[in-house]
Amino acid sequence: MPRTLIEPFRIKSVEPIRLTTRAEREEALAAARLNVFRLRAEDVLIDWLTDSGTGAMSARQWGAMMEGDESYAGARSFYRLQSVIQDITGMQHFVPTHQGRAAEKILFTAACKAGELVPNNNHFDTTRANLEYLGVEAVDLVAAEGLQPALIHPFKGNIDLDRVQALLESDGERIPFGMITVTDNSNGGQPVSMANIRAYAALLKKHGKPLIMDVCRFCENAMFIKMREPGYENKPVKAIAQEMFSYADGATMSAKKDGMVNIGGFIVLRSDEWMDAVRNLEILGEGFPTYGGLAGRDLEALAVGLEEGLDEHYLRYRLRTAEYLGERLEAAGIGFVRPTGGHAVYIDARTVLPDMPVAHYPAWALCNALYLEGGIRGVEVGSVMFGKRLPDGTETFHPMELVRLAFPRRMYTQSHFDYAAEVIAETKAHASTIRGVRIVRQPKLLRHFTCECEWV
Ligand code: F0G
Repeated sequence: MPRTLIEPFRIKSVEPIRLTTRAEREEALAAARLNVFRLRAEDVLIDWLTDSGTGAMSARQWGAMMEGDESYAGARSFYRLQSVIQDITGMQHFVPTHQGRAAEKILFTAACKAGELVPNNNHFDTTRANLEYLGVEAVDLVAAEGLQPALIHPFKGNIDLDRVQALLESDGERIPFGMITVTDNSNGGQPVSMANIRAYAALLKKHGKPLIMDVCRFCENAMFIKMREPGYENKPVKAIAQEMFSYADGATMSAKKDGMVNIGGFIVLRSDEWMDAVRNLEILGEGFPTYGGLAGRDLEALAVGLEEGLDEHYLRYRLRTAEYLGERLEAAGIGFVRPTGGHAVYIDARTVLPDMPVAHYPAWALCNALYLEGGIRGVEVGSVMFGKRLPDGTETFHPMELVRLAFPRRMYTQSHFDYAAEVIAETKAHASTIRGVRIVRQPKLLRHFTCECEWV
């Protein structure tokens, strides 16, 4: 058997990308106030800002879109998607939303109130923000292995069950439900094991609490279980996904990830308990419950996308892509969260910029440097994203300074990855010239998206 794992598709429609000069990139970054979120995408060569909504759809998805039923209420496309989702999740209630954070906002508004707290392995930033906006505390309880970037462990997204139990015992009456994020995006895209999901659900159940899963990347998580968890090696990925869902009482999904679409999301719930409130909020903010902020054609694309997202050939290639870049980085002496996750590689900026003070935001600085060096756009997952400026002007910092390179699905080929590996190694070779930043303007919430910086 040849050893090279090829992209399991061929390209039918292409989109040019534009090489810029270093001088052009310097100008573009300055105009973007040293914040790559503010760049024009046209000025980016390899856009690894996010894997969310950025992938390529298949010919089958484009074909299905022509069959979209755009009826306001009761569209055929809704029922088609509902049956796909009920089959995978085993849950009776399905509510489409325009993306993941809308699903979070609706479910949390229906199910939480101020003063409560929600445990999770790690809340994604919008999940945390939606809870905090309601006055709910978002508590991250990832297991200790997850906090050591260099440690190799098969399931670094697992939640620490002892700490969950302690929290249930000390603050049980304040907990409306437990959450778990698969894969753990804020912590390296690391998977959660089936054993951990099962035990967590049982622990919550013992205390009368439901389990809500954040399932943006459930297909990748299921494939990791197949590859790493004893007993699952011969089970189809879809059956593994069905088992994962069987332990949950509900889920929020951004379909822009493993749903293989450019827009979309949903809520699924097993019981009626929150459904009246969910339906009211859906109509208030998203639209009639059979379209929920989406066009009929979007529902069709998602119905096909969920099937394609569970394809094992695709998933094997997908996970291998991240692993491959990890091998290239390792050869260049660059640290990253190990093992590589499903959708992204998270560079440990500390291994490139060991001497830069955290107050100069080393991961942000590395992000800017990768753009200047080779037109690559990643995203900082560090103290700009998770730190806070306190009223007295001081700051809190994040324990890790990471740069996430997140890979759009079915979009970039192996030579794009080879190019990126060279750019990253080159950036490290002249790390002493990389400058940190200070933030000169920032909003109250989610400051990384829009803040303006200047060079230190
Ligand atoms: N939960 C997780 C784990 C996510 O990664 C995201 C989005 C969301 C919820 C929210 O979904 O964007 O559709 O509203 N993550 C993207 C990212 C933005 O780049 O990781 P959304």
